[in-house]
Amino acid sequence: MAERITIKKPDDWHLHVRDGAMLKAVLPFTAAHFGRAICMPNLVPPVVTAKEAVAYHERVRAAIPEGSKFQPLMTSYLTDNTDPNDIEAGFRDGVFTAVKLYPAHATTNSTYGVTDFKKINPVLARMEKIGMPFLIHGEEADPDTDIFDREAVFIERRLQPMLKNFPGLRIVLEHVSSREGVDFVRAHAPQLGATITPYHLMLTRTDWLGYGNRPYMYCMPVIKRREDRDAIRRAATSGETCFFLGTDSAPHPVSRKLNTVGVPGIFNSPVAISLYAQVFAEENALDRLEAFTSLNGPKHYRLPPNTETITLERTGWTAPEEVEVDGPDERALIHRGGETIQWKVVAA
Ligand code: DOR
Ligand code: ZN
Repeated sequence: MAERITIKKPDDWHLHVRDGAMLKAVLPFTAAHFGRAICMPNLVPPVVTAKEAVAYHERVRAAIPEGSKFQPLMTSYLTDNTDPNDIEAGFRDGVFTAVKLYPAHATTNSTYGVTDFKKINPVLARMEKIGMPFLIHGEEADPDTDIFDREAVFIERRLQPMLKNFPGLRIVLEHVSSREGVDFVRAHAPQLGATITPYHLMLTRTDWLGYGNRPYMYCMPVIKRREDRDAIRRAATSGETCFFLGTDSAPHPVSRKLNTVGVPGIFNSPVAISLYAQVFAEENALDRLEAFTSLNGPKHYRLPPNTETITLERTGWTAPEEVEVDGPDERALIHRGGETIQWKVVAA
């Protein structure tokens, strides 16, 4: 008998589904395996107001395959001028689940992000008051900060003061990518939690740059050293409730990935749950997979876990290489596409 595991249906607490033809092409992969997903607001232009989020939610819902119970959860893109009243009204109406901070110029579509951290204090105070989660792209965008130190510098310069000034504000450090980040989250749980991507669990910067430049391993925050990866693996597989699943699946058209200036982002939703299972199996921690994929996230967000289940089996399968996208975008390549993947979803 092949090895099998049945767990409560996972949620994806960090996802980019984009818009238009790309949204239609990529959303079915997430809806097939996940109960809910936090949909990131970094569209062009970004999703800032509750009104914009209602409209985006409609477009996302229209892309869900018929019969699927998948629920998209919407976020507001924080700017210097975000109105706390709009955030509160959106949260109370169930339009917004959380607010997302992109420091300006830190990553893809972050030009509208926060430039002056003093200006966001009224919004943070309001979120603290109403119990609304705050999601952070935790990288210092100051050009003097080395790209491999951006997370550690952000933590010291920005995150530490926020935790202190707003002790009731629940924060997620998204896609934690460094040993310093992991240690900091652990020390500040449960106020602070972190999502972990499948690729930060598996790759090192030597994989990315050591055998040719592999643009499909380029993401923000960038992949770091082996020691960082190993710390992230220990955190995810430890069972500690502050660490939970967030794929950061971020599809881009091939023409934007393979360009003189390529964009960061790894489209992994078709293989994500299989890769998490592989990592947990390698670490002899399959008994803790469900906590990471399906329990810890809801706990941080104060939502009930899903009631449905998903079953994975240790059976080799080949992931598709790409997804076709209508129109000028044409296609997006899938992380690990064309390779044999060890764990397969056999029931969901
Ligand atoms: O690699 C990334 N891609 N990191 C981000 O923060 C944004 C994302 C995207 O939207 O493509
Ligand atoms: Zn992201």
